[in-house]
Amino acid sequence: MALVKTQVTQEVADYLARHARQDAVLERVARETAEMPHAEMATTPDEAALLTMLARLIGARRALEVGTFTGYGAISIARGLGDGGRLTCLELNEEYAAIARRNLEDAGVADRTEIVVGPALQSLRAMPAEPSFDYVFLDADKTGYPDYYEELVPRLLPGGLLLIDNVLLRGRVTDPHDERERLIDELNDRVTADERVDSVMVLVADGLTFARRR
Ligand SMILES: C[S@@+](CC[C@H](N)C(=O)[O-])C[C@H]1O[C@@H](n2cnc3c(N)ncnc32)[C@H](O)[C@@H]1O
Repeated sequence: MALVKTQVTQEVADYLARHARQDAVLERVARETAEMPHAEMATTPDEAALLTMLARLIGARRALEVGTFTGYGAISIARGLGDGGRLTCLELNEEYAAIARRNLEDAGVADRTEIVVGPALQSLRAMPAEPSFDYVFLDADKTGYPDYYEELVPRLLPGGLLLIDNVLLRGRVTDPHDERERLIDELNDRVTADERVDSVMVLVADGLTFARRR
């Protein structure tokens, strides 16, 4: 049996959030997003800080976010990009895209960010099929993940990093009961066995898989 080293309690989650550096813009975005319906969709401060850190560590220059909501994660990715870096965000909902656009402007990263509104699968398939991204954050509708994964891996440059969010579905993947839970469980198995990538699943927020293109 695997060893549980830290139980994730509310206190631990708050502690992690408190130790993620947020500036005034991210604080405002978090505060305003918390007042919206579906606020729980937003990336947590500690996970967002990780997004920035990872972008810096790999020197990301061509980034993609699938599922943007109010832009908390997008701001964090854009801030981690190297010189001349660009972030493309795919978002279905025009209202969310408009909020994200304002937030990206306020954060001073609108110049390096583009938001494409529409179904992400359609937007992805309209992109060139060859490798062009070095950093991808997948965080949209979970039932779409298997299809997104198959579109995203070929578009990753060698050494490029694909981050897949919510891979634990609040622990439900351990005993899937519906289609969504089964799909994510199967995808997790598929990523683990996929020879095209090196991968690791870590307990950040709702579970985050790192898949690095070989
Ligand atoms: C978990 S939220 C994204 C959170 C965001 N990454 C952040 O950092 O706060 C998921 C987003 O995916 C969007 N979405 C859902 N289905 C989609 C689709 N088919 N294509 C594009 N975006 C979609 C939702 O509108 C929502 O904004």
